[in-house]
Amino acid sequence: MGTETVVTGSASARPVPGLGALESVRAMREVRQGSLLAWVHQQRVVYGDVFASRFPGWVPGVPSMLVYVCQADAAREILTDTRRFVKRSPVYDEMAAALGDGLLTTEGEVWRGQRRTLQPLFTRKRIDRYTDAFLAATTVVSDGWDGRGEVELVDEMEKVTLGSVSRALFGTDVTDEVAPIVAATDELSQITVQRGMSPFAPPRWLPTPENRRIQRLEGDLRDRITRIVERAAARSAGGDDLVARLLDVTDPETGEHLDREEILEQSLIFLLAGYDTTSTALAFTLQELSARPELQRAVRDEIRTVVGDRQPGAEDARGLDLTQRCLLEAMRLHPPAYITSRAATEDTAIAGFDIPAGTVVSPVFAELHRNESYWPDPDRFDPDRFLPEAVKARDRYAYLPFGGGPRSCIGEHFAILEATLALAVLLRRWEVTTDGGAIPMRYGITQRSDAPVRATIAPVTGSVPA
Ligand code: HEM
Repeated sequence: MGTETVVTGSASARPVPGLGALESVRAMREVRQGSLLAWVHQQRVVYGDVFASRFPGWVPGVPSMLVYVCQADAAREILTDTRRFVKRSPVYDEMAAALGDGLLTTEGEVWRGQRRTLQPLFTRKRIDRYTDAFLAATTVVSDGWDGRGEVELVDEMEKVTLGSVSRALFGTDVTDEVAPIVAATDELSQITVQRGMSPFAPPRWLPTPENRRIQRLEGDLRDRITRIVERAAARSAGGDDLVARLLDVTDPETGEHLDREEILEQSLIFLLAGYDTTSTALAFTLQELSARPELQRAVRDEIRTVVGDRQPGAEDARGLDLTQRCLLEAMRLHPPAYITSRAATEDTAIAGFDIPAGTVVSPVFAELHRNESYWPDPDRFDPDRFLPEAVKARDRYAYLPFGGGPRSCIGEHFAILEATLALAVLLRRWEVTTDGGAIPMRYGITQRSDAPVRATIAPVTGSVPA
């Protein structure tokens, strides 16, 4: 879709409304100190669903315009037309420099070959085989809650998702070894986004303190992931974990295997793309449910009815309708991947606005998910928004927690199954209560909580441990 509706270079297209150069530079400072999403919301109220920050055109390597998009039709065009809009924007260039050439950051034919090769590893049927890995990771956390009255939700959910992804990837729990990788990438992610969005970031080769720090973090990251993958590869040939699958898999068109470097880069990307996104989704689902005790009870009743006292399986997870709708609604209000960006390859137009070649366009999923045109009473938590008839009536591109188009998330089934099983195991056994207050966030490549989220946990009477 998209291409036939385009008014490329059309005389009828208008300039994107928005901030001039001075205002944009001032706004960057404001955003660094406060919340990017609060700022985007304010600008949308003033300028509308598509607005721009303009920068002086003479700064080398810097786009003169950054366009924020909070509208479904425009998001559809940007995400589906991979010829007119490519990932190679300053933020992605920074990410590629930091993380290598994995599926998340490659482009064109290289990306197409990788996606073709890796897609079969992420079908629903294949992901179902990681059910035991997901259950084992959550059960460790759930058992660890015994005798504790209070837990910190974000940490606990990170244990669930790191345990899950490390078991699924490497066939064993390597959480302890993975933890320093996570800390390094967390820091890199924030530097990356700040550099990618700043017109004044010094080039990487300059030996500034920040650049030296980046080099140290990247070197450390690489050494650590190499050690883990090499060990997993030696151990798991013929096994079912993702590293073993990566060793086996071939490109269906060329018949080529991945080399060691590619296996390393893809493993790193799966690890990084897969853990904090899912843990943020889980923490927010629990936080929203803890503010609504009746809804939490209804979810628990559903889990007990569908699963009873058994170990839940993948089919059970698919039957947990209300539980999954709560997860989807939590990701509407708090999408872990809250924004993305593309660069226009030619002079074009979106939503009737002029987009010169080189412009960076950023669908802001978090603001799109609260756009009143698609979401009445947008700040209210309401899982019924995801009943089948409501979903059918809504524009598919109004809800994009996993992105859209050919480059949408390859790990969607992985994340949904993992998170649903985690909710089933935890909520069957534990009643979770938080103070329900707003959670301060940090904005890197993904959004993450910037402060502890404390929850009181109490065993559910009569529950049977998973
Ligand atoms: C709740 C959890 C998750 C969320 C919210 C999420 C979100 C997203 C989004 C929005 C994109 C598209 C980015 C864009 O268009 O620029 C994406 C891409 C991607 N995700 Fe996820 N993700 C999640 C979990 C996972 C997991 C578990 C994995 C792997 C095990 C994964 C691997 C990837 C990869 C490799 C891509 C790049 C795909 C491509 O470009 O072909 N994600 N994710």
